[in-house]
Formats: sequence, structure tokens, C-alpha cells
Amino acid sequence: MGLFIKGGEIVTAEARSTGDIYIADETITAMGTGLSIPEGTEVVDATGKLIFPGFIDPHVHIHLPFMETFAKDTHASASKAALIGGTTTFIEMCCPSRNEDTLAGYHTWKQKAQGNSACDYAFHMAVTRFDAQTEAQLREIVLDGTSSFKIFLAYKNFFGVDDGEMFHTLKLAAELGVITTAHCENAELVGQMQKLLLAEGKTGPQWHEPSRPEAVEAEGTSRFATFLEQTGATGYIVHLSCLPALRAAVEAKLRGVRIYVESVLPHFLLDKTYAEREGVEGMKHVMSPPLRDRRNLPLLWSALQAGLIDTVGTDHCPFDTEQKLLGAEAFTQIPNGIPGLEDRVNLMYTYGVKRGLLDLHRFVDALSTRPARIFGLFPRKGIIAIGSDADLVVYDPTYRSSISVATQHTNNDYNGFEGVGIEGRPSVVLVRGKIQVRDGVFIGEPGRGQFLRREPNHGHHQAQGINHAG
Ligand code: URP
Ligand code: ZN
Ligand code: ZN
Repeated sequence: MGLFIKGGEIVTAEARSTGDIYIADETITAMGTGLSIPEGTEVVDATGKLIFPGFIDPHVHIHLPFMETFAKDTHASASKAALIGGTTTFIEMCCPSRNEDTLAGYHTWKQKAQGNSACDYAFHMAVTRFDAQTEAQLREIVLDGTSSFKIFLAYKNFFGVDDGEMFHTLKLAAELGVITTAHCENAELVGQMQKLLLAEGKTGPQWHEPSRPEAVEAEGTSRFATFLEQTGATGYIVHLSCLPALRAAVEAKLRGVRIYVESVLPHFLLDKTYAEREGVEGMKHVMSPPLRDRRNLPLLWSALQAGLIDTVGTDHCPFDTEQKLLGAEAFTQIPNGIPGLEDRVNLMYTYGVKRGLLDLHRFVDALSTRPARIFGLFPRKGIIAIGSDADLVVYDPTYRSSISVATQHTNNDYNGFEGVGIEGRPSVVLVRGKIQVRDGVFIGEPGRGQFLRREPNHGHHQAQGINHAG
């Protein structure tokens, strides 16, 4: 039986028009105005609503062993939260630690997601050490359909790689045509500055930002870009937070380095004063790279609008109050992370589109189409078109509410955006033709999400042509 979405305003990265969408099974099979409705078809009246392609979060952590503890979400809880917030696909960082076997880690992550995620999903494979065995395993993982790597230049001795390992990872990535995502901070500098600050008795969360200042991120960004340039690999900077790092990334783009930039929800809306709050309130706002000086926020918005920042993710990473308090004696022990998977679409719509900082099409592009293109999901995902998966968000721009832990679905006992107003939310969310959410309530099939196999799409003959496409 088909599904008919009637009379909504269909918005893509390029265009906007009022029309109907017909879905047979899992894909869109017809689009237009005044389409006739076959008998027995379920109809969703989208009058007065916007219809977006399902949103894609290119950077989430769900299963994450980190800093002696584990992030709180399961694939069941995170995927429901994602869908309620309009995200129909996420790409999770698969992060075994340096001491673990890469392939065993990959299977652990896949098994945790399989049959538990309600939305579709893929992985970035973290390379946390590089040797002959890991290289062979990475080749196998790419053949399995996971065609992006992740490296951390931070978190020395745990997830972090040294420059030699980065070089070999990027050489392999260039050979295989896969893209490498990178957390760019100078690990050595962070470690030394942490020691100095603690020795001076500076132990609270307000010292997290000074221990990894903007210059430390800019250095990591510029070094990553230089390594991309020398290896011919394609890169993607995750969670870029500040102007000096942006300058380094844009300079690299201008030199012709194939490099994409992601910034994440907290860096658009929150500043370092949140981490300077007393006690655990400050700890709840500790992430890396840290929340920055307020002067960065308008710059990030402008860079996003201009397409210099390509995508918006969340870096969703929920640690609860008890876990944050592991860092009560020293900010270096606070588990890093601010969750946002459920709130990204509504907050970027409210504070970007509604406030006039972000064009509606660029919003769709940055939160759906560009992640799909960069990570090899397009045109199956990231667009509303005949033949594409019917991942659709029927969005109510008249809805008004505010974010609260009391109503969230993410598995955590606080929300870093508590009390922040939203002006719009998804009223119906479909994944591959099936309604999974209605008016903020999950009504779908848990565990229905599929692992998305992705072919390598960053070989030298496969330039994506979107750095300049706006
Ligand atoms: O603070 C953060 N970002 N936590 C998650 C791990 C990472 O660096 O992405
Ligand atoms: Zn990171
Ligand atoms: Zn992350």
C-alpha cells in the first residue's frame, strides 16, 4: 500500500515548490501537483507544512567507551531521539581504543546497532593505531561498506594517532578513495597545558578551554591539511569551533586541498561562559574542542551561510551528571561531550533560518544534502526525488516550545540547551516510506533501521564538486 503526502511545500537544497509526493514501498515514485490518489492509499495532509529530505547527522557517538566510562545512549534510545528531532540517518563514530583490535571493534559497533536502531545508520571507522594488521583490517572494513575513516589528533594514548600514523592512514585512504574525518587539536600541547594548569591548582571546568585554546585547534587543522596535501587524500574536519581554525581550513581549500569542514550544534549556540558555570553545571558543558569565546559565534554562522563550513553535525555524546562528576577534582577527568542529536534540526531552524542567519536551502544542504554527498549516500539520501529513499520530514513551522530534559528522548538526566525556545518541529517523519514519528511521538518500528553500505567516493577521478557549489 502506498503513502501520499499531500500539498506541502517541498524544500530541497536548490528549490522550493508546493506539491504532492507519492511513495510506493520504500522510495518516492511520483511527485507533482494534483496527482491522483490511488485507492487504499494512506494520505498525510501537509498543507501549511514544509517537507524536507530526511536530515543526516554526520557525527554522533552512541556506543562510546571514553574516559573510564560509557556514553549513556543505546542505539534504541538515540535513534528514537534522532527521529523525533527529524534526523533519519546518522553516521556514528566507531571508536575502539588504541589497545583494541580494529576489526573486533567494528563488529562490536555493528552488532550493537543491528536490529536496535530505528533509523538508518552508517559508521566512520576510527583508526586509533596503524600497523600491518590494522591496515589489512581497514581494507576489509571498506569492502564491507564503511568508506570513511576517523582520526583523532587529540586524546594521546587512547584514541589519538601520531603524525606517522596519520601519514600512513591518509596514504591508505588516498589509495582506497575513502575520506578521512579528523579531530584536529595538538595533543602534546593540550597535555602540557593541562599539567601546568593543574599544578597551579586550576582544577575546575572553566580551565578546560584555556587548556586547549584556539591556537591549539588551528595548529591541528593546519597540520591535517598539510598531510592531506602531501598524501593526496581527501579530509573532513569535524567540530571546527573557532576563527583561527576556520582560517587554516579555508586557506587549505584555497590551495586546492580536498578538505571539508563540519561545525557542530553547541558551537553555534553556546559559548565558554557555559563551562564557566559553578560546579557540575559547568562540567555539563565540557566538550572538545571547547565552547569558545562568544565572538566566534557570528563568524561560524556567516561561514556556514557562505558554504565555507560545509555541514552541521552534533557530536552527540551524552554523559550524565554522575559521570560528569568524575571530573569534580580535575577538569581533565570530566568525560567530554554535549548531546544534541534530538535538537539539531529544530535549533538550527530556529536560530539560523528564523533569525535570518541561514538561508532555508543552505539549511537543508548543510544538514542533509551535503553530508549525503560527502559521505557517499547521495542520491539515495539527502534529496527529495523520484527513486530516492522516502526519508521525509513534514515540518510544522508554527510549532512553539522550549527544550527540556523533562520531554527529551535522549538517555540523559540533563539537556545542555535547557529552556532554549524552538520555533518549529517535525510533525511527521518517514524512514524509507514508513511513518516513524507523529507530533513528537515515536509510533514506528524499533530496530527497523538499516546499515547503509557506502562505496568509496573520493578517488582522484571522483571530485565531488561541492566545495564551490554553495
Ligand atoms: O567532547 C567531545 N567532542 N566528545 C566526543 C569525542 C570527540 O572528540 O568527538
Ligand atoms: Zn572529537
Ligand atoms: Zn565526536
